[in-house]
Amino acid sequence: MQPPQKAVCPSSVRILRLPGVTRRPKVAALWRTGWPLLGFWRLLDAVPTPDLASLRALVERGDGSDRAFVDGTIRLAWARARGEAERASLLELHGAVQAAALAAHAALRAEISNGSLSRHALRRLFDDVPATRRDHFVEEVLGIAYPPLDEPEAVPELIAYTPSGYDEIVHALDSTELAPGERFLDIGSGLGKAVMLAALLAGASSVGVERDPALHERAEGAARLLGLREARFACVDAQEMAPSDADVVFMYLPFTGGTLSRVLQRLFEAGSGPLRARQRFLCAAVLEPGLYPALVPVGSPKLWLQVYAWR
Ligand SMILES: C[S@@+](CC[C@H](N)C(=O)[O-])C[C@H]1O[C@@H](n2cnc3c(N)ncnc32)[C@H](O)[C@@H]1O
Repeated sequence: MQPPQKAVCPSSVRILRLPGVTRRPKVAALWRTGWPLLGFWRLLDAVPTPDLASLRALVERGDGSDRAFVDGTIRLAWARARGEAERASLLELHGAVQAAALAAHAALRAEISNGSLSRHALRRLFDDVPATRRDHFVEEVLGIAYPPLDEPEAVPELIAYTPSGYDEIVHALDSTELAPGERFLDIGSGLGKAVMLAALLAGASSVGVERDPALHERAEGAARLLGLREARFACVDAQEMAPSDADVVFMYLPFTGGTLSRVLQRLFEAGSGPLRARQRFLCAAVLEPGLYPALVPVGSPKLWLQVYAWR
């Protein structure tokens, strides 16, 4: 049987041609720039129901970008799925996408979990992936590229899950010179990308705090499957977490407003203990100048991320 041929239109409407499955090119889904259209129900209704057998064939024979495409298609269908049977089929296909990603990276994952790949070699390997594919590649290798299909209910001031970029995470690790054994804390850790990378690339003792149980469980499971004992997770609201004296605190926009002020206040209280031998850092979005005098910017921002030395 011939492999599936696919084409990507510049308009980012993907067209599938699967020999023996569909004879005519068929618009399967909107991907990437199509996402903002999700809110327009009339347009959403115009998206055809995906042919799950074709998508499964693509998962079985395709690469990482095919899996990303299928995942996007599943999400579009999930948003408007009605019956239990339809949801069960989509969930099963979503599981197949995750399993295919783990299988595709099995050799590298084995090297990571048996410790045969040094931190520096893994860093070089990730750095060498072309920038446009790097984040998805890293997330597939970590086993966290495909978040749960159900989105949690929106809560005022709290930001929903989006993984931070590899470039920002390594910028935080490099500019704080996070060293093996030092403590890294990600507040609002989601699926654990920053936590796992701090453990893997810097050798840090790394902890993530996440309020959403589904994300927390997936992060714990992903770290366990990779044999990452130095990456640990707690399912707790950051507003109630125990004071931490981590060397580097990382926050990719988990919350805003009063919640942000309260959590930062708690962090400063934890930091005002006996004199420390080492400088502490906060890696966060750019904060209002002068609002937190204990924080002194280090270098310039990298996209959303500003590193602050914490006096
Ligand atoms: C933008 S995501 C960042 C994910 C992760 N830090 C990363 O860089 O890949 C923000 C995360 O913060 C979590 N979050 C929001 N409010 C929180 C709170 N009060 N306590 C703990 N986690 C929270 C969300 O559930 C979400 O997973």
